[in-house]
Amino acid sequence: MTIKEMFDLTGKVALVTGGARDFGFHAGDVLAEAGCRVVVTARELDRAREAAEKLAVRHHRETLALALDVTRPEAVAETVGKAAAWKGHLDILVNNAGGTPSGGGAAHLFERSAEAALELISVNLMGTLYCCQAAGRVMARQGAGKIINIASIAGILGRDRRMYQRNQMRGQPVDYAAAKAGVIGMTRDLAAVLSPMGVHVNCISPGGFQRNLPPEFVKDYSDRTPLGRMGRDGIDLQGAVLYLASPASDYVTGHNLVVDGGFTIWQ
Ligand SMILES: NC(=O)c1ccc[n+]([C@@H]2O[C@H](COP(=O)([O-])OP(=O)(O)OC[C@H]3O[C@@H](n4cnc5c(N)ncnc54)[C@H](O)[C@@H]3O)[C@@H](O)[C@H]2O)c1
Repeated sequence: MTIKEMFDLTGKVALVTGGARDFGFHAGDVLAEAGCRVVVTARELDRAREAAEKLAVRHHRETLALALDVTRPEAVAETVGKAAAWKGHLDILVNNAGGTPSGGGAAHLFERSAEAALELISVNLMGTLYCCQAAGRVMARQGAGKIINIASIAGILGRDRRMYQRNQMRGQPVDYAAAKAGVIGMTRDLAAVLSPMGVHVNCISPGGFQRNLPPEFVKDYSDRTPLGRMGRDGIDLQGAVLYLASPASDYVTGHNLVVDGGFTIWQ
């Protein structure tokens, strides 16, 4: 196989959850450039449409926009069904929807409400599970498929909260770490379940990416990162997504690919 063939995704259909902005949009962007037809999903159809249109124009690819709230299992089943029916197959799923919603209440353990924690786990962990289940079913029938779950280094280490406190930042709730550790564990076991059916399941654990953050925090974080900086949006995650989606990773499953500039090795 040539290097070009290893990373060629011509004609493949990829579905990205939370695909309208940031990591989700960038995942769709690299997959479209590599040849995929991308199904962009977002909770609001208009935002999915806008992103899908942008990808179509930028890469001259067919795209499809669908509304999807990943916390609703029936909606997930319906949307995955529509995505698979679009071209008759579904080859790649990027479970990106998640994060720590800023409207999600206090982050500190003693002030954290049960509702906020449940909502966060529902999006980051249960949403990923529902999407794996629905897409896994389609991919198992096909005998092939690649699932990429977006986890986080929060799932593999504890945070130094002082860095957030001295920069007057909200910080991360412990349920975020729980949800992302859950995604990493689920990825491994799901790979065991789906490997005999030809379906690969891997996850990516990004470290902190630089996005509207106080300069002092960026400096603190960069000092603790062996490569000396935070992740660059639209650049540093794309190689990992492309690798795990493409034939280049055909002998890799159940893996957690850490993309953090080395942050975790210094902990
Ligand atoms: N930014 C970082 O530094 C970082 C680091 C590690 C992991 N991550 C993870 O990367 C993923 C993307 O994060 P991001 O930084 O691009 O943040 P973001 O907040 O910009 O993106 C999250 C996306 O998920 C969507 N979303 C939220 N709830 C949803 C729901 N119920 N149904 C469908 N979509 C929903 C949002 O609308 C948004 O498009 C998340 O899973 C996040 O936990 C981010």
